[in-house]
Amino acid sequence: MASHAIQIKNLYKIFGPRGRDYVEQVRNGLSKTDLNVKHGHVLGLQNINIDMPAGAITVVMGLSGSGKSTLIRHVNRLIDPTAGEVLYDGVDVCKMSESELRAFRRHRTAMVFQKFALLPHRTVIENTIYGLQIQGVSREESEKKGRHWIARVGLDGFENHYPNQLSGGMQQRVGLARALTNDADILLMDEAYSALDPLIRVDMQSVLLDLQKELKKTVVFITHDLDEALRLGDQIAILRDGKVVQQGTGQDIVLHPADDYISAFVKEVNRGRVIKAQTVMKPIAGEQSSMRIPGEMTLEIAAKQMTEAGLSNAVVVDQSGKPIGSLDLHSIITAMVTPTSHLTASMVAA
Ligand SMILES: Nc1ncnc2c1ncn2[C@@H]1O[C@H](COP(=O)(O)OP(=O)(O)OP(=O)(O)O)[C@@H](O)[C@H]1O
Ligand SMILES: [Mg+2]
Repeated sequence: MASHAIQIKNLYKIFGPRGRDYVEQVRNGLSKTDLNVKHGHVLGLQNINIDMPAGAITVVMGLSGSGKSTLIRHVNRLIDPTAGEVLYDGVDVCKMSESELRAFRRHRTAMVFQKFALLPHRTVIENTIYGLQIQGVSREESEKKGRHWIARVGLDGFENHYPNQLSGGMQQRVGLARALTNDADILLMDEAYSALDPLIRVDMQSVLLDLQKELKKTVVFITHDLDEALRLGDQIAILRDGKVVQQGTGQDIVLHPADDYISAFVKEVNRGRVIKAQTVMKPIAGEQSSMRIPGEMTLEIAAKQMTEAGLSNAVVVDQSGKPIGSLDLHSIITAMVTPTSHLTASMVAA
C-alpha cells in the first residue's frame, strides 16, 4: 500500500564542482571547515538518515547555515544529492526521469514559503488556483477547490482581494490555501512562519494543526524556533553543521538533550507544555483520586485541570481508560522546574 512516507538515507551534499570526490573523506571525518579551507568545497549535509512518517509533521530545526533548506530542497529534488537516497513510497526521487519528476513535484508536493511568493497582480482566488490552471484543470473545478480551501484557512470573503490588501498572516493563509488546493500528499514548509508576528505565528500554527488532524499530510516543517518545533512536530530532527545531532519526539529532546548544543536550545523551554503526565506519574498507592487524566496530557494542562477541580491528585489512564499511575501537583511542579540533569531516573522513565 502506498504510504506517502519520505525516507532520507545516507544523504550527503557537498557544494562545489567536484563534490563527489570528497564524500569518502567526509565519511572518514574531514570536517566542514577543513573541506572548505583545504578544498574550497562547502559541506551542506552529511550522512543524513531521517524517516518522515506519512501523515505526520516532521520538524527540522537548527541554527542558520546548519543545512535545513538544503535538506528540504532534496525532498522535491530542487537539489540533487552528492550521495544517498530520497525515497517517497519507496521510490528514489533522485532516480526519477524528468517527466516523472515533473509529475511528482506537481501532484505530490507543495511548498509554503516564508515570503509567501504570491503573485501581486492576481487576486487571492487566482493565486490559489494558479497551480491547477497550469495543470490544465478547468476553471470551474479549480475555482470550486480554491474557494473550499480559502474558506478552510479562514479567508472566506477575501477571494477577490489582492495580496497587498492583506496582512502578513492573511497572505500566509493564502500561501497555505494554494498549497492545499494542489492536493499534494507532501507539504514542504521552509521557515513558513518565521516572518510573522509572534501572536499571528501561533495562530498559523493552530491553523496547520487543525487542518492536519483531518488532512494527515506528510509535512516537513523547518524552523529555528524550538517552541514552534515542539508545538508542531510529531518528531523533530536537529541539524548542526549539516549533521543530524538528535532526532526524536519533542519530549525526548527536552528530557534527554544529546549534547550541550541541544541543552542550550531546550534550556528556556516551557517544560510543562512538553512533558506528559505518563512520564512523571508514580505507581498508584492508597486512596484513588476521583479525577482521571489521559497519560498523553501535558503537565501544563493536567495542572490546570487539577487546580480548577480543586484536587491535588489524579489517576492517569491509558487510551482504553485503564489506570496506569497517579499524578500529584507536587510532582508536576517539580518536573516543570527541575533541570533535566537533576531529574531522577524514575522521574524520566519516558
Ligand atoms: N548553492 C550553494 N553553494 C554553496 N554553498 C551553499 C549553497 N547552498 C547552501 N550552501 C551552504 O550550505 C550550508 C547550509 O545552508 P542552508 O541554506 O541549507 O542552511 P539553513 O539551515 O537553511 O540556514 P538558514 O536558517 O539561514 O536558512 C551553508 O554553509 C551554506 O552556506
Ligand atoms: Mg534556510
